[in-house]
Amino acid sequence: MSGFGAADSTSVCLPTPSGEAIGPLAGCNLAALLALDSAAFAQSERWSVESWESELENAEVTGLFSAGRLAAVSSFSVMGESADLRRIETHPDARRHGFAVKLLEAGFAECKARGAERVLLEVDEFNEPALALYAKLGFSEIARRERYYKNGHAAVVMEKCL
Ligand SMILES: CC(C)(COP(=O)(O)OP(=O)(O)OC[C@H]1O[C@@H](n2cnc3c(N)ncnc32)[C@H](O)[C@@H]1OP(=O)(O)O)[C@@H](O)C(=O)NCCC(=O)NCCS
Repeated sequence: MSGFGAADSTSVCLPTPSGEAIGPLAGCNLAALLALDSAAFAQSERWSVESWESELENAEVTGLFSAGRLAAVSSFSVMGESADLRRIETHPDARRHGFAVKLLEAGFAECKARGAERVLLEVDEFNEPALALYAKLGFSEIARRERYYKNGHAAVVMEKCL
């Protein structure tokens, strides 16, 4: 498995692997990222082209390829002893195959190698699949931000020690 850091704006995309592979994403993956985001999220939660471009430049965006396509994506940022999980999404056709767990576990290892001691995230209080995923991976609630999202839902702030 590749770790973070190999991708930059000059990266050349290799042909999409036919088997399962995890690796850093770059600008050449933008179209695939936007397509995955459209499939995985409701319109109000999708990121714009500009947001994804900025994410690719400023965070560690990692993809899981399966059967010749981008099936899942994670994005982390590391600041000192804390890492933020900024995005995790799996294509609806590829869910419940353990892809999110694989991406997140690879991300945790990389964050730890970079000096992070904990990972923080925010999740919609009613996002049951994501809450179940984070509980399975050992996250626990440390705070709530009431009416944080546009839909009026609270954000649950969760932490996992690495
Ligand atoms: C949340 C999400 C990333 C999970 O991706 P995934 O690749 O299907 O997750 P995995 O297959 O690795 O699932 C791992 C565990 O998470 C939990 N889980 C995942 N989806 C679940 C669901 N629909 N219902 C209940 N538990 C679920 C289960 O514990 C599961 O383990 P199991 O399959 O052995 O029971 C995916 O549903 C998704 O992309 N949702 C839309 C985007 C989103 O909400 N992202 C999170 C924003 S904070």
